[in-house]
Amino acid sequence: MTDALILTEMHGDGPRRTALIKLNRPKQLNALNDALMDQLGEALLAFDRDESVGCIVITGSDKAFAAGADISAMARFDYMHVHQSDFITRNWETMLQVRKPVIAAVAGFALGGGCELAMMCDVLIAAETAKFGQPEIKIGIIPGAGGTQRLPRAVGKSKAMDLVLTARMMDAAEAERAGLVSRVVPAERLLDEALAAAEAINALSGPSVALAKECVNRAFEGTLSDGVMFERRVFHSLFATADQKEGMDAFLAKRPPQFGHS
Ligand code: HXC
Repeated sequence: MTDALILTEMHGDGPRRTALIKLNRPKQLNALNDALMDQLGEALLAFDRDESVGCIVITGSDKAFAAGADISAMARFDYMHVHQSDFITRNWETMLQVRKPVIAAVAGFALGGGCELAMMCDVLIAAETAKFGQPEIKIGIIPGAGGTQRLPRAVGKSKAMDLVLTARMMDAAEAERAGLVSRVVPAERLLDEALAAAEAINALSGPSVALAKECVNRAFEGTLSDGVMFERRVFHSLFATADQKEGMDAFLAKRPPQFGHS
């Protein structure tokens, strides 16, 4: 497909592989539109269903992960149109249906909807070149895909206000200090590091990985005591898996585990 707005590749040679999704509107700095978000949503769901896939990595270009929603597409939209079409956010929550880990590998600009997309991922690995921001205020709008909610949860109120109200960009080092980013790596190592992280996860028990992700996500919803009780019950449930027996037997026998993902 020559006009694909995303490109996909499979990586790794183990029983569970990594699906790499590359946002592919490089001339527009991967500005997000409905067609791209539709393709991204379909790919995420397909890889989540595919039993040979352990992890998904989303990346952009060297210059931009994504510079936000496509301003040329939305410049002339009126209220009724954005309200009724739910421009680019109509399937934004598709990412939340994905039970496998999604790693964002971010180089260059991750602005507006691009920063919001990166924040929806489970692990965020940044190149030293990465720049994060919610600059919507400069064009007379505000973040509309979770930026005012997820950014304060990640970096605290004061820095989130600073970024949202001044539209300034935060470099990778600041983003790591603030807790937005899992780790920062040299730009030329970005994809290798993201794929290595995915590979490490692929070797683990699929049910444990999916449930660990679900538990961490619970930390952002509801109360602490509900979250801890949810975790406790999920922890108990993993003793029903063959992988728990295999993981613990392998540890005691001082051999690598062979997980069957069941
Ligand atoms: C459409 C965009 C774009 C965008 C860049 N381009 N960002 N097109 N939508 N968000 C296009 C430019 O128009 C230009 O096209 C080409 O990409 C290269 O960009 P330049 O500006 O020439 O590059 P540079 O000087 O390096 O500046 C990079 C930049 C700047 C700092 C990232 O492009 C910029 O400020 N972009 C807008 C960032 C932004 O405001 N994002 C938030 C959008 S609103 P041509 O044709 O001239 O080569 C949003 C709301 C989401 O995200 C809410 C969800 C509903």
